[in-house]
This record gives sequence, structure tokens and C-alpha cells, in this order.
Amino acid sequence: MFYPEELVEEVRAKNDIVDVVSGYIRMTKKGANHWGCCPFHNEKTPSFAVNGAKQMYHCFGCGAGGNVFTFVMNYENYSFPEAIKVLADRAGVTLPEASYDEAAKEKQNRRMRLLEVNKEAAKFFCYQLRTPKGEIGYQYLSRRALTDETIKRFGLGYSGKTGGELVQYLKSKGFEDDLIIESGLASFSEKYGMSSQFWNRVMYPIMDIHNRVIGFGGRVMGDGEPKYLNSPETPVFDKRRNLFGLNFARASRAGNIILCEGYMDVIAMHQAGFTQAVAALGTAFTPEQAGLLRRYTDSVLLAFDSDGAGVKAALRAIGILKDAGLSGKVINMRPYKDPDEFMKAEGKEAFEERIAKAENSFFFEIRILEQSFDLKDPEAKTNFYKEIAKKLCGFSVDVERENYLEAIAEKYNIGQANLKKLVNSYAAQTGLAKPIERPKSGVQSKNKPEDGAKKSQRLLITWITDEPGIYSKIEKYISPEDFTEDLYRKVAERLFADLANGNYNPAAIISMFTDEEEQRQAAELFNTNLPEINTPQEREKAFHDILYAVKKNSYEYFTSQLGADVTALNKVIQGKKALEELAKTRISID
Ligand code: GTP
Ligand code: MN
Repeated sequence: MFYPEELVEEVRAKNDIVDVVSGYIRMTKKGANHWGCCPFHNEKTPSFAVNGAKQMYHCFGCGAGGNVFTFVMNYENYSFPEAIKVLADRAGVTLPEASYDEAAKEKQNRRMRLLEVNKEAAKFFCYQLRTPKGEIGYQYLSRRALTDETIKRFGLGYSGKTGGELVQYLKSKGFEDDLIIESGLASFSEKYGMSSQFWNRVMYPIMDIHNRVIGFGGRVMGDGEPKYLNSPETPVFDKRRNLFGLNFARASRAGNIILCEGYMDVIAMHQAGFTQAVAALGTAFTPEQAGLLRRYTDSVLLAFDSDGAGVKAALRAIGILKDAGLSGKVINMRPYKDPDEFMKAEGKEAFEERIAKAENSFFFEIRILEQSFDLKDPEAKTNFYKEIAKKLCGFSVDVERENYLEAIAEKYNIGQANLKKLVNSYAAQTGLAKPIERPKSGVQSKNKPEDGAKKSQRLLITWITDEPGIYSKIEKYISPEDFTEDLYRKVAERLFADLANGNYNPAAIISMFTDEEEQRQAAELFNTNLPEINTPQEREKAFHDILYAVKKNSYEYFTSQLGADVTALNKVIQGKKALEELAKTRISID
């Protein structure tokens, strides 16, 4: 949904940031700021400042910062549309209904209807569980040590022995046959008419982050096949882009997310207090799901089954997490099969210890790799070391690769110099320290090695937004084209135009984007952690370095475009001039 800028601005202006933040954390006024303990990192002494005049917040501890929208987005893990809705309500501003074209409207209606069918079906399954017919399901869940509270929280239910009741119930609620079929809850055949897909199963509703039921997983009673039957993909059920339990996990504030394999694992973990547990939806973990997790955490702990299949799945998941820029660790579940069994046998405290001892995913990968080599055989041992070297080349950041190299050399008792030689020779054969080839993931592009260049671009934009007065001093050196990231360039175009007109307004810039992820990235752009600075000289130098880095990157970028882009030559010439001038110019920014 795209809201007109004036409306966004109205909502922002009517929600005083000091009032809003006071609703979440306790603050005291000191000087120009209100101070409190930062909700975005753990701290005991307040370093979180809210400035009423600027209508912005900033944490001097972790660098979080932004306006009233980004605060609510980050605190509640809301998207921009969600945040603006809440804030509009709060201020009594009415947001217009979305204006769709007819086809889109029709599609949206259909989606709403499908969600309604699912909701009614979930209610029906819950109800069934409490009737004599559902006794078998209820007994089953009790045997699996689930409390009534857990059953209720997850909305667990039971689909009757015959399955016919569901269809009847849904029809009585006014849902048409084709809608029921599209929801995947029933199918039609000439012989049997409408018949339910799920029968004699314990039903796990699958919810999206807004707690709407988008599909179901049904577990067979006892040992039948298939063990789990999941709803098919429908317009509201995208298995690649949702995670079981994320509706609860997103609010958990545990500082990490625990990724499990099974629904039952997630439920057992939540019951034990680990409300940060989630699982994929009956398919392998996907890059889309990794991207989703990245909105909530940068640390993912894998609590996969301890058997061979679980290890294989963990290795795959590690690669996907890495591509998404997430750090992964592996929780050792042995001697138990999965988190559910672990929890039953050992309980919460023991699991907390396992979390604390979770293994770095790279060490895990190497340890598993080791198992396929017979280290008593010199040749196999050499091959093992070569494989290690190859894997080390997957780290494109030098320091990171060095650190892992040292750690692994020590752990496996390999001479550091020798291992380094192996790495170098492998790198030379294949082109230096290229990232390991992995299947294309879609999120990959966000984490290319030229991250340094992106970082300088972010820093520069944050700095200019923090101190808009600087813009006039650097205007002649910088243009939106210097921002080689597409989204950054769009933001810069707008920001510089606003600054030139004297009506600079980051809240409005965020709303230029309709995509949630883009809004997040734009908000992030205004809130990069600026370098620690003590003296005015340091400040000047830090700013100069950032500006120079952005300019240099853009110069290099356009140099690489020579021949491909007719405008590049001009930009290269100008860029070179600007760089030369910058090299000998001091820009006073105070
Ligand atoms: P139980 O503890 O036996 O109830 O199951 P679980 O939740 O521990 O699941 P398990 O570890 O056996 O499997 C992990 C996940 O894979 C399940 O939660 C399902 O999402 C999925 N899964 C398991 N079996 C099947 C199956 O037969 N078909 C499909 N489509 N998915 C399955
Ligand atoms: Mn299990």
C-alpha cells in the first residue's frame, strides 16, 4: 500500500516521538534529551536518547536510531504499513482504503475469503478436539506431554474420523464448494462428491506473522503414512516464505532464533519457554525463509535432528544462512533425536546449556567433513586438509579467513604455515578466495563482497541526515549517481533534492518505497552506526574518509562501465577531478 507523502507526514507529525517511546520504555529528561535503557540491545545504564526537537532517537551504545516510524517498526518488528496503521490509529488519522484495480481487488477478495475458510476450519478442528469424537486426538497430544495451555496457544485441533463434518460445517457457514477446494481442505470427485483432505489427524494450524491461519499440517495418529499431510500451496499459503511459529518467535526478544525441523519440536520448545523456535513448512529450509529471519535476528541456532538426515539438512541450512548474511550455530541434541525428545528427557536448563555451547557452523561443517576421511591414511589426511583449505577460501573477507584458518589449524593440529600454503595454492588455482559456489538464492545479491563500498554509502547518507547543514559544503563533490546501490541512489536523489529545496524529511523518503524490505533498508540507511569520534580533527578526517571512499567507489564503478555505458566516460573524468580535488581539500564540517 502506498500512502501519499502528506499523509505519512501528518501521521508522523501527530505522533510525538517522546510520547510514543514513553509508552514502551521508561525515560527521564536530561538536557535536550529524554534518556532510557535501549530496547534494541542489552544494557543497564541508559544510553538511549530521544530528542523531542528533532523527533529522532539515537542509542549511543548500539547505534540504533531513527524516527517514530522506525522505532515502532524495530520495536514491534512491524513493516512500514503496519507501523503507519498503528500510529495513524493512535493519532486518530484515517488512512484511505487501498485503491486497487478491479482484477487486483478480486484477487484480494479471494485471498480474504480463503483466510476466512481457514479460520473457520481451524475453529472447527479445535472444537472437534474437545468432543468425544476428538478424544483420540486429545489423548495423543496429552501423551506427547502438551499442556492445555499449549494446545490452546497453538490452536491445535483434530479432524474427525470421517472428515465429512468439516465440509458440512464450512458449507453451513456459507462457503462455496470451489472456495473450499481452493483452500486445499477438501477435494471433489464424481464418486464421493466433496470430501475432506484431512481425517483422523491432529491438526496444526500454520499461521503467518499476523496470526492468520494460512494452512494446516495434519499429523497421523500412530504410525500411518504419510506422517504429516500439509495443505497444498494456495494463494495465501506460500511454503517457501513462511515459518511455523514465527508469529510468536518474532516477539520473543531472545536475541536469536532457533530453527527446528518439526512442528512438534517447535511446540515442545515454546512450551519449555523457548518462544524463539520456528520450523520450515514440511519442505527444506529456503533462502526466502532465511531472508525472513534476517528481519528479526542475525543469529540463528540450528536445532535439527541428530540423525544423518538431520545433519544433511543442517549443512544445507548453514549454506543458506550464510548466503543471507546470517551467522549460524548448531545445537548438539545428542543423545536425543530431536528437541522434543530432549526437552522431555532433560528439560529447560539443560537445553540452555546446549544453547550456550552451540557449535560455530564452520567448525560443525569441518567436523562432519572429517568423518568422511580416514585420518590414519596419509593420503586421505592430505585430502581432508585440502578440503579444509578449499572451504577456507569461501571466506572472502581476509581477516575472517585468517581467524578461521588459525582456529582450524590449532583444532586439527595442522601447521598454520602449511595450511596457509594450501589455501594460497587453492586460491591461485581458482581465482583468489572466491566465495564457494552455491545455488542461486535470491538473497545472495545483498551480501556481495563489496560491502565496504555499501557501508561508506550508508555512512555518508546517515551523516548527512544527522547534520543536514553539511550538504551545502559537499554538494559540488557528490551526486546521487555516486551511490552505486540502486536503492541508495533513489534515496540520495530524493534526499539531495529535498536538501536543496530546504525541506528535508526522512520519514517521507521511507514512504517512497512500497516494498517492506526496501522500507527497512531505507530506514537503515538513515541510521547507520557512525564511527566513534573524540576530537574535531578526528571528526573531520572520518567524514573526509567516508566521502572519499564513496567517490572512489563510484569512480571505479564507472571506469568498469566504460564501453558499456555511454555516459560513463564523462562520469569517470568528473570523478577523477573530484577525487584529486578532495585529496587536497579540507572540508570543515563544524
Ligand atoms: P513427530 O514428533 O513425529 O510428531 O514429528 P516431528 O514434528 O518431530 O517431525 P519430523 O522430525 O518427523 O519431521 C520434520 C518435519 O518434516 C515435520 O514437522 C513435517 O513438517 C515434515 N514431514 C515429516 N513427515 C512428513 C511427511 O510424511 N510428508 C510431508 N509433506 N512432510 C513431512
Ligand atoms: Mn519428533
